[in-house]
Amino acid sequence: MASLQIGIDLGTTSILIHVKGKGIVLQEASIAALDAVTGDVLALGNRVYQMVGRNPDSLRVVHPMRDGVISDFTVIHAMIAYYIKKICGNRLLKPSVMICMPASVTGLERNTILELAIAAGAARVCLVEEPFAAALGAGLNIASLGGQMIVDIGGGTTDVAVITMGSIVLSRSGKSAGNKLNESIQRYLRRERHMIVGDLTAETIKKKVGFARLHSPELGIMVRGQNYITRMPVCNEVTSTQAYLAMRETIGEMISVVRRVFEETPPEMAGDILDQGIVLTGGGSLLRDFDAVLHLETGLHVRVARDPIECVARGMGLMMEHNSILEGNNYYYRTDDDIGEYARNRAL
Ligand SMILES: Nc1ncnc2c1ncn2[C@@H]1O[C@H](COP(=O)(O)OP(=O)(O)O)[C@@H](O)[C@H]1O
Ligand SMILES: [Mg+2]
Repeated sequence: MASLQIGIDLGTTSILIHVKGKGIVLQEASIAALDAVTGDVLALGNRVYQMVGRNPDSLRVVHPMRDGVISDFTVIHAMIAYYIKKICGNRLLKPSVMICMPASVTGLERNTILELAIAAGAARVCLVEEPFAAALGAGLNIASLGGQMIVDIGGGTTDVAVITMGSIVLSRSGKSAGNKLNESIQRYLRRERHMIVGDLTAETIKKKVGFARLHSPELGIMVRGQNYITRMPVCNEVTSTQAYLAMRETIGEMISVVRRVFEETPPEMAGDILDQGIVLTGGGSLLRDFDAVLHLETGLHVRVARDPIECVARGMGLMMEHNSILEGNNYYYRTDDDIGEYARNRAL
């Protein structure tokens, strides 16, 4: 039985796994439940997501990659080990694992992830940069001479990159993204409606009645929460106008990240982007009308990629299918020996 080739998109909100020859086989929430006393990992993924805001004190819910930084390596290790085991079952040969992390993860953290992945059961590991995988998955021709802009809006970060001839020439990351939109809805409701709502409710409001600009006709949704003062349960309507007013500032910050990249883009490449437009990936790009608002603010053509949440995993799938993409862009798999040598060199 041949060894499997697996691509893991370690996102701040979701983890997607692509298996070579099969496609995307798994999408789970990037979240874990730990024993509050011992710190042992008790459960992972979607099962835990349902518990958010309802968990007993004996359980601690953690988002190990929440803001695009790795806050808990033990949990990441448990996650990688669990998913490798789930995909590979009892196969004797260890898999080749490709991992994609948010662009904001530091070099040191990346090296730790390499070591963790080997310890978690990978035969060899290859780390790839997220904008690169996202661009491939969105169908961009990354080898083209002209500069292309890709904007990935995830849970924890909005990452903007300009890619030309297969390399990332410029990139910027901002913390205004999906989670911050949810938080701004929670803050607005507390301030303006004296209502406290949980994370999952804020997420529902954003998805059901959230728009990046005023929407007419106005939509509404009934949501449950707590009165801020009396703490009694309440059920109120939240409208698309309120959701927009809540999110407006964060949406502005997301657009500023894109603007800042243009300030540093060399003129020839800015001209290329004028021709090609901007491609949006990541779950946050599903916020309705965000593409239209970005178009109005920049004057550029804006396109949301097909199935934007899956772009990174799909891009890794393409890299696994076509070794030439990997080699052509200086990505390579490292084994335990390579990493051991690296670690020894680092210690010297
Ligand atoms: N229909 C939608 N409208 C608005 N936001 C959405 C929608 N679907 C998903 N999102 C948001 O997308 C974000 C997750 O995107 P994803 O690309 O999976 O993130 P990451 O790569 O950081 O794990 C979350 O903040 C989620 O609320
Ligand atoms: Mg992502």
